[in-house]
Amino acid sequence: MNLYKYVSNAINDKLGFVANLETPRNRAFGDFSTNAAMVMAKSTGKNPRELAAEILPKLSELGFVADASVAGPGFINIKLKDDFIWAAAKEPHNTKSEKAQKIDLDYGGYNVGKALHIGHLRTSIVGDTFNRIAKFLGHTTKSYNHIGDWGRPMGLIIAWILEYGMPQSAEELNKMYPASTARAKEDEAWMARAKEITAELQAGNPEYRKIYDDFMKISLAQMDEVLKKLNLLPFDATMGERGVAPYVAETQKILEAKNLLVESDGAMIVNVKTDEDTAPMPPLMFRTSSDTQTYAAADLSAIYYRTKTDSPDVIGYFTDSRQNLHFQQVFRVAKMAGLTNAELFHTGFGALTGADGKPFKTRDGGVAELLDIIDMVNDAVRTRVKEAGKELDDETISAIALAAVKFNDLLHDVRSDYVFDPNQITSFEGRTGPYILYTAVRLNSVLKRAGEVSDSIMGQLSEEERNLLIATLDFERTVQTAFDNRATDMIANYAYDLCQLINTFYHNCPILRDDVDAATRAQRLAVVRIARDTLASAIDLMGLKIPEEM
Ligand code: ARG
Repeated sequence: MNLYKYVSNAINDKLGFVANLETPRNRAFGDFSTNAAMVMAKSTGKNPRELAAEILPKLSELGFVADASVAGPGFINIKLKDDFIWAAAKEPHNTKSEKAQKIDLDYGGYNVGKALHIGHLRTSIVGDTFNRIAKFLGHTTKSYNHIGDWGRPMGLIIAWILEYGMPQSAEELNKMYPASTARAKEDEAWMARAKEITAELQAGNPEYRKIYDDFMKISLAQMDEVLKKLNLLPFDATMGERGVAPYVAETQKILEAKNLLVESDGAMIVNVKTDEDTAPMPPLMFRTSSDTQTYAAADLSAIYYRTKTDSPDVIGYFTDSRQNLHFQQVFRVAKMAGLTNAELFHTGFGALTGADGKPFKTRDGGVAELLDIIDMVNDAVRTRVKEAGKELDDETISAIALAAVKFNDLLHDVRSDYVFDPNQITSFEGRTGPYILYTAVRLNSVLKRAGEVSDSIMGQLSEEERNLLIATLDFERTVQTAFDNRATDMIANYAYDLCQLINTFYHNCPILRDDVDAATRAQRLAVVRIARDTLASAIDLMGLKIPEEM
């Protein structure tokens, strides 16, 4: 149940107007507090405290209210009945939205011939979690890995291969693009050749196409490895710049029909600036002067293709914030040309920095590759586990490392920069993935040792039980709000707060100890099961795995 919504609607229905519902800071006063009397006071001019006293009997009529009292200048605090909390908390979460949408999601966006690096972490993790949230809410999603597989880097790589031969591994392949780029900077002829090859590849040159197809396999295999290591849902479509190439001509026709394309120095552009723009808004580049497909043309053609094939209600993109301008331009042109009726959104991420606030680098000063980062975090976990005198198998270590990386990524507001510190994120205490997993493992082990868990209605709730169960009843609202605001950090923070309540309960309310009587134990176990189920759902949404032991 979405407790907040349920209580809020019931109060509003009863009173016939809309009031705010809040959680009082001091929970001893009540589970919720409403400003209903102050709202009424505004329209009637009466004293809010007197009004509150008049409203109280009405609220007490509501089936779930155990007690209502006036506080401060006219707030009304409401305490819920224990049996109502029990009954609600025992129900499985019902998170299906009333109106299911078709949502195309664009994240990952890996580049062929280049290693995945730290910049690909957030798009992968946040995109994947958003996908899971949308599915959880009953929406139909289609995830696109819009890979960078058709631009000038392809020409640069092919030029290199023609001279030095085919790469035998991803490691070898990934060195070619930087090497060829460095050469192109000094050697004009080399650059000209790379441009020419790019244009010919795009036009269908069979020799280039053969080379391209061969190194493509190496890159795709490496992407797969990363997807598995990060425990991401498989992409529904790996279709990027090349995949949409067949739709560029049709897209161009639509732009032409609307008179949007303008020639400029041999290139084709679209002016997107409006009078309202205060910040610079350069034109969108649709085709270069050397007649190659642009990044923007690919995205417009992708919108055209997706609209035609999926008829989505929403198309959402997750990239770093350096692409904010690009997506503003693309969205404007898509709307000007009427390419889609879908709602378009782009979430631009901040960067991951080292402890010094500068972009995170590896120990040797290079850009950190994703697989190295995962290894680095694995090592950090291994060291910690050893220091704690524990012995855990490799699978468990990887699950903890995965949780450390992903939770840290999800925890921060996606728009802001955040610090990536392998040491801090692997701590078993504080706002970390390992802490979340540890709490889940603890609950699982209690349940396992206890065996049978009763399901019949229980008795009076302790403060710890009450706060914890009410928190589980905020899960549905949290997932919905995270979706509405595209704020995946809400899930991570919710999971942390829930774990805090779980651990307070666990410390203050012994369960399996000999001196705990059977009825108390049964009740506490019922609370554990409900808390575990909710925490496990949150953990699932973050794409983490709960180990057997920790
Ligand atoms: N390959 C691009 C890059 O690394 C990201 C692609 C993002 N998605 C998109 N539809 N443009 O910069």
